[in-house]
Amino acid sequence: MEPIKIAFVGTGFAAKIHATAYKQIPNVDVKIVAVSSRKKENVKKFCEEMKIGPELITTDSFDMIRSMNADIIDICTPTHTHSEYAIEAAKAGKNIICEKPLTGFFGDTSIPVEDRQDVGNVDKLIMLEEVLKECEKIKQVIEKHQVIFGYAENWVYAPPISKIKSLLQAARGKILEIRCGESHSGSHSKFAAEWKYTGGGALIRMGSHPIGASLHLKQWEGIIRDGHPILPHSIIATTTKNRELLDNLPPEQDCIQSRPKDVEDWSTGILKFEDNTTAVIVASDVTLGGIENWLNIYGSNTRIEAKISNNNTVMAYAPTEKQFKDAYTIEKAETQAGWSYAQPSEDWMTGYPFEMADFVRSVIVKTQPLSNLDLAINTTKVIYAAYLSSESGKRIHIPKNFTYS
Ligand SMILES: NC(=O)c1ccc[n+]([C@@H]2O[C@H](COP(=O)([O-])OP(=O)(O)OC[C@H]3O[C@@H](n4cnc5c(N)ncnc54)[C@H](O)[C@@H]3O)[C@@H](O)[C@H]2O)c1
Repeated sequence: MEPIKIAFVGTGFAAKIHATAYKQIPNVDVKIVAVSSRKKENVKKFCEEMKIGPELITTDSFDMIRSMNADIIDICTPTHTHSEYAIEAAKAGKNIICEKPLTGFFGDTSIPVEDRQDVGNVDKLIMLEEVLKECEKIKQVIEKHQVIFGYAENWVYAPPISKIKSLLQAARGKILEIRCGESHSGSHSKFAAEWKYTGGGALIRMGSHPIGASLHLKQWEGIIRDGHPILPHSIIATTTKNRELLDNLPPEQDCIQSRPKDVEDWSTGILKFEDNTTAVIVASDVTLGGIENWLNIYGSNTRIEAKISNNNTVMAYAPTEKQFKDAYTIEKAETQAGWSYAQPSEDWMTGYPFEMADFVRSVIVKTQPLSNLDLAINTTKVIYAAYLSSESGKRIHIPKNFTYS
């Protein structure tokens, strides 16, 4: 079989995760044939670090998408660029892997992104309506050009979530409630601080994972039980920004790394599904102790608690920072002193090799993957309904189509 040819857009944190995961797909030869990013030196550094020698390295991502002979365009750029690159790839007949979240509201797109001001203060009803239009545009172009769309929601593939599914399938109970969340003490990415790049704060960046997983699980439950998915119905949410409360504290009293500008750093939502069950979702940029990814199921005949991170498979102790200074314990740990939750394989536990394997396999057999465009769009709808709920103080229904009224 010919190798599957990948062209990367973006060379940051997510791109490295994807490039590492491609190497772990069994029985398939995956070749990175092209890499683009904003700066050539970043592309070169990425290729050196990942030990790859693509045919093309470039700063012209649109030209690469159009002209490169690639099976998959892998979009690992800040969220405000996802839609334009995905649309360009579909028009060029290329299959797509797109990082989460699919898209969002990023302000007036006729103004260069660097010059946009205060996007986070735009009316959230306008945001929701604009985002729905954007999702519809993406769906139409993908359907027209019949390309495969892999939505890189790794929680769908994380072994703890797969285990939840196999236990639920055995017990045949009903999911009454999901409680879940992602938290840490602030993103490494400068794009995370501003709405114009990320489309929001903690809720969209981190909440997209537990929201995506909750939507996936209820959809799956409905299909195995009754042959049709259980869809999201409505959400009530709160978002807030803690940063201002911290700015006057002495340095030793403030270990939070996030520096949000016009975005929230904490959020919670209660998502109701069509069958009246709920998911309680937390996403926080102001939580110390390393990344915390968890999802609990409260079922009609079982209770299951899953930790994707912060689990105690390997507990490592060091009396000071010195002993583990060259070691890696867990993502976003503030310190390596004291006890650490040292994940043996963070990538495996988080599901990255399995999502990439599913996307590549889907391209080979020409079928949409488990984490697909529908999940991407539904997650985006829930997120922007949550922003509107937080602003208005009201429960907001999740639009079934692409209009909100
Ligand atoms: N699934 C996950 O666990 C996970 C983890 C981190 C990030 N992400 C997602 O991945 C995406 C990228 O995040 P990141 O953390 O890798 O960010 P990053 O800042 O580490 O990297 C972004 C990369 O995109 C490049 N870039 C920026 N603007 C560009 C443009 N207009 N055209 C081409 N390249 C451009 C930058 O030069 C950089 O190489 C985001 O959507 C984020 O939500 C997902």
